[in-house]
Amino acid sequence: MPGRNFLFIPGPTNVPQRVRNAMALEQEDMRAVDFPKFTLPLFEDLKKVFKTKTGRVFIFPSSGTGGWEAAVSNTLSPGDKVLMSHFGHFSWLWVDLCQRHGLNVQALEVPWGEGVPVEKYAEILKADKNKEIKGVFVCQNETATGVTSDVAAVRKALNDANHPALLFVDGVSSVASIDFRMDEWGVDLCVSGSQKGFMVPTGLGIVCVSQKALEARKTAKLPRTYFSFDDMMGANDNGFFPYTPNTIYLRGLRESVNMLMEEGLDNVFARHRRMATAVRKAVAAWGLKLVASDAKWYSDTVSAIYVPEGFDGNEMARHAYKFYNVALSISLGKIAGKAFRIGHLGDMNEMMILTPISAAEMAMHDMGIKVKLGSGVAAAQEYLCSTKQQVRAL
Ligand SMILES: Cc1ncc(COP(=O)(O)O)c(C=O)c1O
Repeated sequence: MPGRNFLFIPGPTNVPQRVRNAMALEQEDMRAVDFPKFTLPLFEDLKKVFKTKTGRVFIFPSSGTGGWEAAVSNTLSPGDKVLMSHFGHFSWLWVDLCQRHGLNVQALEVPWGEGVPVEKYAEILKADKNKEIKGVFVCQNETATGVTSDVAAVRKALNDANHPALLFVDGVSSVASIDFRMDEWGVDLCVSGSQKGFMVPTGLGIVCVSQKALEARKTAKLPRTYFSFDDMMGANDNGFFPYTPNTIYLRGLRESVNMLMEEGLDNVFARHRRMATAVRKAVAAWGLKLVASDAKWYSDTVSAIYVPEGFDGNEMARHAYKFYNVALSISLGKIAGKAFRIGHLGDMNEMMILTPISAAEMAMHDMGIKVKLGSGVAAAQEYLCSTKQQVRAL
């Protein structure tokens, strides 16, 4: 088949050529004497991505779900009370994981399209006079609905209640593409994965952990082996791993962190905001609605877009794949079929973002959805032209 298949799902994301080149390697000895020269600076630089000076970063050969399990199993005990909320497929799966680990989960059900209900969290934390809640959970970016929540506001709610619970953040589809500040926001555990903002194939669960959470592991009684922080620390301190690491992906991660540092995190976030805004301009021009119900929830990494009633967004996404070689993302769970998604994170630029907008228009047109061909593309172009920046110093 000539030409490329274009990928615009919210992870795995496009892997830049530089990262692919960095991974085109022979296998290597993960116990070689010079291996720590590679790993120790990588751990240090990852801390910069999470914006922590005092925390530490673990890298597990897993996807983000393994990172969730690591965060929970190392710091909590069976029966511990935790405060969570769910408003999409992924925030729900984290609730499910905690329930299956035997935690006493208070899970607030929030309408899809909204995010973490900070005021309710604040009330519950204030009312918890005996400080029974051991963990408070935030899905910073709900990938199923394209909703971003306010982590700093949850930290404030904890502080206002003078509450010592650990703050857990799912940063799988936000870290390295939406602002995240481990130390400033007092986050204790932040879970991410390699295949989204980090632009590496799926296969690394990346977890940033505060000193307070590391202390909690000493009394936490949930069983852990593969995901043990203790085992990791014992080996990582010397630049090694307690079992066979995925060296190829670590080399890819090294290159992606180089790229993030070269661009500058603030520029990375601004670029994501710009790509997301271009998509939102197109959605408005189509006369369609985002699943995110208010601008304060808008995600800069993924947009979930409702199709008009009577049409199937997933069928439309499959149509784009089948006829136009573009992978748009289907909608999941409660809104399955009612929407489709465009992932606009990672290795993304102006010309790339016009592709899913154009493909969505063509597929909607074919499905009989009343959208004027070119209208979304034009709106996005208009916005990108009016905010253009020189991309090359010549
Ligand atoms: C917000 C969020 N959390 C967790 C996960 C689970 O991560 P993984 O599929 O890498 O296990 C995903 C996956 O898309 C996600 O988007």
